[in-house]
Amino acid sequence: MAIQSVKGTKDLLPDEIAAWHRIEGTARALFALYGYREIRTPIFEVTDLFARGIGQETDIVSKEMYTFEDRDGGSLTLRPEATAGIVRAVIEHNLINTDPALKVYTTGPMFRRERPQKGRYRQFHQVNVEVFGVTSPSIDVEVVEMALAYLQGCGLTQYELVLNSVGDAKCRPAYVETLRTALRAQSGKLCADCQRRTETNPLRVLDCKVPDDQPVIESLPRISDHLCDECRAHFAEVRRELELLQIPYRLSHRLVRGLDYYIRTTFEVLSGELGAQNSVLGGGRYDGLVKELGGPDIPGIGFALGMERLVMLIPPVPVEARCEVFLAPLVPEARDFALRLQRQLRKAGVSAMTDHEGRGLKSQMKRADKLGARFVAILGEDEMAKARWTIRDMKASTQEEVGLDAAAEYLIKETTVG
Ligand code: HAM
Repeated sequence: MAIQSVKGTKDLLPDEIAAWHRIEGTARALFALYGYREIRTPIFEVTDLFARGIGQETDIVSKEMYTFEDRDGGSLTLRPEATAGIVRAVIEHNLINTDPALKVYTTGPMFRRERPQKGRYRQFHQVNVEVFGVTSPSIDVEVVEMALAYLQGCGLTQYELVLNSVGDAKCRPAYVETLRTALRAQSGKLCADCQRRTETNPLRVLDCKVPDDQPVIESLPRISDHLCDECRAHFAEVRRELELLQIPYRLSHRLVRGLDYYIRTTFEVLSGELGAQNSVLGGGRYDGLVKELGGPDIPGIGFALGMERLVMLIPPVPVEARCEVFLAPLVPEARDFALRLQRQLRKAGVSAMTDHEGRGLKSQMKRADKLGARFVAILGEDEMAKARWTIRDMKASTQEEVGLDAAAEYLIKETTVG
């Protein structure tokens, strides 16, 4: 029996790759306008990085990581997200010293052992953006604004920005205790998961989707009423600037996110069209994380977007053409001319393909059409006698006869003119 792909993984086939190229290209071009540069970190890291960075009590660390023992006994983990690895690299290479407002992005696969469903995979891909060294709320707004500009640039029109502030090390611990006390008082009305979370990580209760838990959750104390003065002022400024830039958003005191490193601003972009897995993008500020992982006390903020989810949402992108010129030799003597012309075209940067199997005109024309060729150059018995190619313009449905020696120059000119 043929071996199948692993559950929760997905092959990206050549016919679907155009959409991926579009979203990757849009990221590269747009992020450069905001001063970001690319960083690429390894797909596996020491397990402790994620345990310390993301938080021991999060679902990601407690049950979703692909962790394995290395041959020397060390524990390694396939990255479940990019932020912790990027922070490690920033510290290790002292990047913040060379750039006090460091802006980096990355794209690539992440691994989480979640239950697979529509839009949820065990290997998925993220576009991930991080800024280090900037405390001002205006960078929060810039990051959010760029995230939305990116979604729009990829062709997404229907989405909602959701915003919250989760406080900081000064005000959140007291709020978490208030929340825990309120939860304990109603513990009997909560699902088993939330009863456990009440003790381990009460904020996660706010994220619970179990219908019977909702009345209790809605009645809980809200973080917005427990922010310290600094967090309140920071959030007010974020909101003011979003309004200044006319960026619509919805406030949600229940947006706590699934990673423990966030402080102050958190945000997500949702799309109803995704069904249950409705988050396209999520992020926030994580000022304590660099220090927590052994670096200097510098602030950070960023977001990550699920590429599979974005591809599901944007209008279909046509299959990419595989060649501009298809060469159709119809008699054996024509093949040498085709091979030479093909080489000349490729050297000049024009993509070209030919038939290697001696097929007839009809089948070669069909193949050229399938490959998306703009021009087909035909060399049959008649053409050989006249020492001329017949060059058919597939878009304009016209054709020209061009001398054997002039064909390369003709096709190079035609394809570069448009
Ligand atoms: P996250 O919310 O865990 O944040 O993931 C960000 C996005 O990745 C989600 O909104 C979703 O689109 C996608 N995603 C997550 N899990 C899956 C999955 N199993 N299958 C498909 N897509 C998925 C983070 O990862 C943070 N590191 C974001 C961040 C960067 N915060 C600051 N900087």
